[in-house]
Amino acid sequence: MKILVTGGCGFIGSNFIRYILKKYPSYKIINLDKLTYAGNLENLKDIEKNRNYKFIKGDICNKELVGKIANNVDYIINFAAETHVDRSILEAGSFIKTDVYGTHILLEAAKKYHHKKYIQISTDEVYGSIDKGSFTEESRLKPNSPYSASKTSADLLCRSYFVTYGLPVMITRSSNNYGPYQYPEKVIPLFITNAIENKPLPLYGDGKNVRDWLYVLDNCSGIDTVLHKGIAGEIYNIGGSNEIANIGLTKTILKILNKPTSLIKPVADRLGHDRRYSLKCNKLMKLGWKPKRKFEETLRETVEWYIDNKNWWKKLKDIDFNKYYKKQYKLSNE
Ligand code: NAD
Ligand code: TYD
Repeated sequence: MKILVTGGCGFIGSNFIRYILKKYPSYKIINLDKLTYAGNLENLKDIEKNRNYKFIKGDICNKELVGKIANNVDYIINFAAETHVDRSILEAGSFIKTDVYGTHILLEAAKKYHHKKYIQISTDEVYGSIDKGSFTEESRLKPNSPYSASKTSADLLCRSYFVTYGLPVMITRSSNNYGPYQYPEKVIPLFITNAIENKPLPLYGDGKNVRDWLYVLDNCSGIDTVLHKGIAGEIYNIGGSNEIANIGLTKTILKILNKPTSLIKPVADRLGHDRRYSLKCNKLMKLGWKPKRKFEETLRETVEWYIDNKNWWKKLKDIDFNKYYKKQYKLSNE
């Protein structure tokens, strides 16, 4: 099996490539990544010499390049995206370009070369917010941020390529992931690394927004299940069944690190902040998947990973992130 993975130098993509190469020693992976601020070659340093792995630096919006690579693979799994909601609130253009137009370029290539499968890595955020109950794959799409609207647009394009051209497209919609190699702008790595450095943890609004946390390797096994058992044209939710309000999550992180709750700094709410995400995942479970790892255990392991890998995150927080984060922080306090 020869797979083009896009965005493989990011958080979930790098965990997925490592997972697949270990589990299926005969599979070949080409990783196409633009290396934006979120892409990091260090995320895959341990496998860069693996004979079944090849990295190509490039943009999924580059039709010529994508065409050349797609000609040599049977499957595309598209992780590449601009992914941070707060950044999309400050500047939406790059989200529309990569998440929507980039998906279109990949779909065109998969169509041209008659790929056996195309998997779009999407998000629960396409459904919008839900106060009670959980979203199924049939729930209406009601995205609230420029990020989730871009991801929704890409999902709709995927659907149209299945219906119109019969392209064997599948979509996974996962809940919030956590684990090693997550860029320290997302709440879990941001709060862990701030707490390690005794810096304030900027908690948005009343802290009662709820997210359903999914350990990244459980997401990888979900995508693996879809790759091998998924049905063309279908959508699969992947949730962790670990719903927790941000304030509870923050206190748990501080407790693991043995740091005081006085580090919590309530700040102004995010614009258009979704209150709660929640997924029903029966459809994927019917294919034999279920999350294997426990939340408390994997959160603790994640905290330990950030303690052990300060060299990895310290430089990320120093460079581009500081510049961006100051702007964002100002916005939250306005
Ligand atoms: P990330 O921001 O950590 O990584 C994104 C990767 O895509 C980076 O390596 C970046 O360099 C690359 N990239 C960006 N634009 C590109 C382009 N134009 N061409 C090629 N490469 C490009 O993201 P992540 O958290 O690993 O998320 C991966 C996917 O999973 C995304 O599609 C995201 O929408 C989806 N998702 C993420 C989460 C989560 O909690 N992180 C939850 C649900 C869905
Ligand atoms: P985030 O990790 O950005 O993921 P998403 O917005 O895609 O769910 O945020 C998770 C939750 O944490 C969300 O409710 C916003 C909140 N949050 C904060 O309270 N403070 C922060 O500094 C960040 C980045 C997020």
